Amino acid sequence: MKVGVIGLGYWGPNLVRNFSAHSEVTEVAASDIREERLKFIRSKFPAAKLTTNYNDIIEGDSDLVVIATPVATHHPLAKAALLNGKHIWVEKPFTASIREAEELIEIAERKNLKIFVDHTFIYNGAVIKIKELLDKGELGNILYFDSERINLGLFQKDVNVIWDLAPHDLSIMSYLMKGMKPKALSATGIANFNGLENLAHINIHFEQNCFAHFHVNWVSPVKIRRMILGGDKKMLVYDDMENFEKIKVYDSGIEYKSTETIHEALVQYRIGDMFSPKVNQTEALALGAKECIAAINENRQPLTSGYDGLDVVRLLEASDLSLKNMGKMIEIGDSLLVT
Ligand SMILES: NC(=O)c1ccc[n+]([C@@H]2O[C@H](COP(=O)([O-])OP(=O)(O)OC[C@H]3O[C@@H](n4cnc5c(N)ncnc54)[C@H](O)[C@@H]3O)[C@@H](O)[C@H]2O)c1
Repeated sequence: MKVGVIGLGYWGPNLVRNFSAHSEVTEVAASDIREERLKFIRSKFPAAKLTTNYNDIIEGDSDLVVIATPVATHHPLAKAALLNGKHIWVEKPFTASIREAEELIEIAERKNLKIFVDHTFIYNGAVIKIKELLDKGELGNILYFDSERINLGLFQKDVNVIWDLAPHDLSIMSYLMKGMKPKALSATGIANFNGLENLAHINIHFEQNCFAHFHVNWVSPVKIRRMILGGDKKMLVYDDMENFEKIKVYDSGIEYKSTETIHEALVQYRIGDMFSPKVNQTEALALGAKECIAAINENRQPLTSGYDGLDVVRLLEASDLSLKNMGKMIEIGDSLLVT
């Protein structure tokens, strides 16, 4: 398989590295409009075919075109690649709007091409382990999902902090809580500097009695990457800043016995053992590249397909609408999260 990567800024070189290491990839071509980025890639990957013209990749002999450029350019580049008969890998967030995502999915379906959306965390050992625990019913019914992703972050020029950071957490939530349907969301935030929100909170209400909250921030003095999943049997904390014991499962919870009057309601606390399951350390991007190529070879949807990308874009677009309306509750239309 021949792979062409477009966009060699911060993230693109990781993609060149992982596809170059894949046993089925015979050639990696790479493009950036900035000559200095080609120079950087040439020094690390002398075998890569380099060009400043992305059309050389889109119209060339790559089977898979990998798009790692700013969000606004995802749709035009992805559309051109699909129309040239290429499978595509698109960085998160998939597109800048629902309409763009739907159009790409329609073209790919019509031409029987695959869309892989790089929701990297779905291939992260900790998230894979959490999914295993949930599928085994270890936590019981999910009551809430609470996530925090904050640090002194790299300001993006074209998107706010929600479009930059929240795709990670929203895609993790969608994956872990498949089968639960987000009903409505509200988002609030502040743009202190350049008109793009640098801090935001998103609240999602589900059709089931469940709630999710996301806090993303580029202007925090401390780096926190943590989520808490509350279940009615057990609860779990995933701290991505921990080198060891990234996941802790607590056999804790409450038992609530309602009685005739609210004053007499009984709340019993259970504080039991904690265990920390072992997490696979394989690089998520390596597993993502493997899944993408396997899906193409087996003519099936990848684990993180265009439909998964669209689900996240739906939540992002609703967040923007709510932000502009001071946190107004927005209904989520036609979510594809229930499969
Ligand atoms: N999956 C992840 O964990 C992860 C992490 C970081 C970034 N990303 C995503 O990757 C994408 C790129 O982010 P980044 O931080 O690397 O941005 P960046 O600005 O560092 O790099 C983007 C590069 O694209 C190049 N470019 C723009 N238009 C081009 C074109 N038409 N042809 C060729 N090159 C072009 C720019 O010159 C630049 O070098 C974004 O969608 C971002 O959200 C994903």
